[in-house]
Amino acid sequence: MAYDWIIRNAVIYDGTGAGGVAGDLAIEGERIAAVGAVSGTARQELDARGQALSPGFIDVHTHDDFAAVLHPDMAFKTAGGVTTSVVGNCGMGAAPFPSAAILARSLHPGATLPGWDGYGGYLDLIDQAPPALNIAALIGHGTVRMSVMGRKTEAPDAAEMDQMKALIREGLDAGAFGLSTGLIYEPGRHARTEELIELTEVLRGSGGLYTTHMRDEGTGLLDSIDEAIRIGEAAGVGVQISHHKASGRAAWGLVRQSLARIDAAQRQGLNVHADQYPYTAGSTVLSAVAGDGRLGGGVGSLMPEDVVIASAANHPEWEGQSIAALMVAFGQDLATTLNRVLDETPGATVVLHSMSEADVQTVMRHPSTMVGSDGLPTLAGKPHPRLYGTFARVLGHYARDLSVLSLPDGIYRMTGFSAAKFGLKDRGVLKAGAFADLVLFDPATIIDRGTFEDPKQSPAGIACVFVNGQPVVRDGRVTEARPGKALRRAA
Ligand code: ZN
Ligand code: CU
Repeated sequence: MAYDWIIRNAVIYDGTGAGGVAGDLAIEGERIAAVGAVSGTARQELDARGQALSPGFIDVHTHDDFAAVLHPDMAFKTAGGVTTSVVGNCGMGAAPFPSAAILARSLHPGATLPGWDGYGGYLDLIDQAPPALNIAALIGHGTVRMSVMGRKTEAPDAAEMDQMKALIREGLDAGAFGLSTGLIYEPGRHARTEELIELTEVLRGSGGLYTTHMRDEGTGLLDSIDEAIRIGEAAGVGVQISHHKASGRAAWGLVRQSLARIDAAQRQGLNVHADQYPYTAGSTVLSAVAGDGRLGGGVGSLMPEDVVIASAANHPEWEGQSIAALMVAFGQDLATTLNRVLDETPGATVVLHSMSEADVQTVMRHPSTMVGSDGLPTLAGKPHPRLYGTFARVLGHYARDLSVLSLPDGIYRMTGFSAAKFGLKDRGVLKAGAFADLVLFDPATIIDRGTFEDPKQSPAGIACVFVNGQPVVRDGRVTEARPGKALRRAA
């Protein structure tokens, strides 16, 4: 029989953590037809010449909700091997649209979005105007709370709880994969644990996850982990700790204990895991870390030289400059400098040099950790290079060069592990019948290339990327194909 594609002479890593095996892979339509020694012919053949063939990388932590609509080529992700983005993280979801648009304005200043009705409308739009990669959505608690309660800081009353639950149910019924929280951000930080348990209970029995940007990743890290686990346990729902880290010098080393709490929860039979991006710097909106004229608030205490402007809509000349440098340039103290930046660009984003390399490696080595970029798709400024380079950096820098992980294990933590945790059916593994989301790369040369000074670089060593059977990257170049789908949680 004639297949659509045969990729020959590859070393196949199937995404389960198993070692590479020489073989071929055949694609028929949007799915894998055969893996191993493939006989027969195909309309198109590709000689892998001994390169590694793995499942497409699943980015379990993204803020690509609006980028998928505004920049459907999604080249900043596909060129780095990503075939599925999980959107809606850190409490910031795609619906209800009017409150979602607040975040969209910060990430994509001046852009016009078509608007949509609920998560159902958002996922339908993705199917009607598909991006190059697949989109799986989380429901954002902050977006839901903003829509029902505005900027209120009190606990919700019974009517408000009912309205929030109805919005969460709409998202779940539409196919969302869980509920995310962002407990350092407005308005999520005003939610108490009880509110979060009651809202997360809506997910019980659905397979949807509670994913969380915790209240405090600084010296309060362990209390935060305990809260996350408590919410999942009380609600009867699996937990995903977002971007697991210890932020700020005073918290360095605490990850050994936070990892031990995850181990303990797993021993009790709880479904608790985490994701991580492979850098010692984080990134977020300045407003979340510079309240009341100081640097801190859930990210630990940071020095002005540790905080660098990534994007500033009206002031591109500030991009790449630290707060310390701006204090000198303005001739002003910290509080006045922060207030001036926030006044003139309320949506400014920053890179935070906040972590220790030892902690990054400790978290990466731990078996509870999968890979998620947390990239902010602010394509106009100097976004944190994780947006482009996360997956290549894990495989090239950390697995190959530093031996923090083996290659098959590194691949597993961005494919099979992630698909199993999030319930992405028939993805994340190479086997007959699974969707043909694939990456062909050279394990000897794959590496991230972006730096904090010059971040917008796609990785080296990635030759071809397939999404649902179609090449979105070929010979290292992004194609015109837009074969992505809206993924919906299987009932
Ligand atoms: Zn976050
Ligand atoms: Cu995030």
